[in-house]
Amino acid sequence: MLDKARIWTPEHLVATGRQAYFRPVSGWYGGTEVDFEGRRLIMTASHDYLGLSADPRVREAAAEAVHRFGTSLGGSRIINGSLELHERLEERLAAFLGHEAALVLPSGFQANLMLAPLMDQGTAVFTDFANHASLNEAVRLGSPVKHTFLHGNMTHLERRLAAADSRLAKLILTDGVFSVDGDVCDLPVLTELARAHGARIVLDSSHDLGMLGATGAGVAEHFGLTADLVTSALSKSLASVGGVIAGPAHVIRYLRHNAPAAIFTAAAAPANVAAALAALDILQTEPHRRTRLLDLAERLHNGLRALGFDTGTSTTPIVSVKVSGQDRCFRTWRRLCEAGVFTGPISHPGVARGREVLRITLTAAHTDHHLEHVLTALEAVGRKEGIIPDSPPGTHTPVTITRPPATAA
Ligand SMILES: Cc1ncc(COP(=O)(O)O)c(C=O)c1O
Repeated sequence: MLDKARIWTPEHLVATGRQAYFRPVSGWYGGTEVDFEGRRLIMTASHDYLGLSADPRVREAAAEAVHRFGTSLGGSRIINGSLELHERLEERLAAFLGHEAALVLPSGFQANLMLAPLMDQGTAVFTDFANHASLNEAVRLGSPVKHTFLHGNMTHLERRLAAADSRLAKLILTDGVFSVDGDVCDLPVLTELARAHGARIVLDSSHDLGMLGATGAGVAEHFGLTADLVTSALSKSLASVGGVIAGPAHVIRYLRHNAPAAIFTAAAAPANVAAALAALDILQTEPHRRTRLLDLAERLHNGLRALGFDTGTSTTPIVSVKVSGQDRCFRTWRRLCEAGVFTGPISHPGVARGREVLRITLTAAHTDHHLEHVLTALEAVGRKEGIIPDSPPGTHTPVTITRPPATAA
């Protein structure tokens, strides 16, 4: 049992390139630059989409919560750790996401684990192949009948729904914006299929909250639709750490009192709750941040494509450059660090073997100069690694970023 870990020596990490992971950065400047191995690098591996993690108002709210409540509530919400602050955030998030009620958890991963008690052998779950690992873990814990459908393939989902045991309750799980591919789920078709087959939909809006929708409420708002349940991490546009699950009041009440992921865990820390509340205020009152995020993303996508990079099917600020090959992925990551850019190397199990990517995200806080530096570094390193041709291709297919209807170009 423990023997399988023996191969994981420090030498193994070096030989497989995995020493690129868990690398400590020291200085953290406005969320856009970091000190790494003694040098200042542009940080492009964070999902602080609206650039709020260093915002003075968010920092101040977190600091004030520490002054008032300390660093930890020392226990779970159900016994001693529930603050009015948690309830305020829950009310605000429920209203923002268009649901009756919400429950705040210490992490987005846990928000998805909350789904496990809703799934049992009487439930057939239909899950997109590219869904986040935490949704997969909920399915594993719940042990329902599981049907995985090909990523974004609605025809395949329809076939699986039609073939499922009609006595089972049906639940469709999907990311709103997929965390590696950066594409947007087809919620209109998912909704049609759910209606036709009597299925419920759970939408993980971790990446689209703050990014899509007229008010930034995510993919459901973008399409003018409602999922049965919405989950989200608070660690991306909300510049905090935590998670939320929102839905009908009776379902949230049931989960609050029955889901092990909520009962047997310490309450989300006061500083994190206060930071999320402050970030939500800013998200709702400063839409220009979303516009800036989307503008920069479009320029990054198209700048990379003009150089010959393949950024896949993404139409969002998640820009995943195909590098294909674990060695090349880690080598390119290292060379980009040397060129002043810290990217996110995604290898197995984040993606299938052979489909490695470098994930690059610019936030609303990055400058035009950052964008230019990132493109220059990628051009030089991409050529050296043979990822792009020596001279730019004459033409490329441009990406039109997915925007809220009100700001569409
Ligand atoms: C789509 C998605 N869901 C859930 C999570 C988990 O959130 P957290 O990091 O807060 O645990 C993530 C985080 O990476 C994510 O990308």
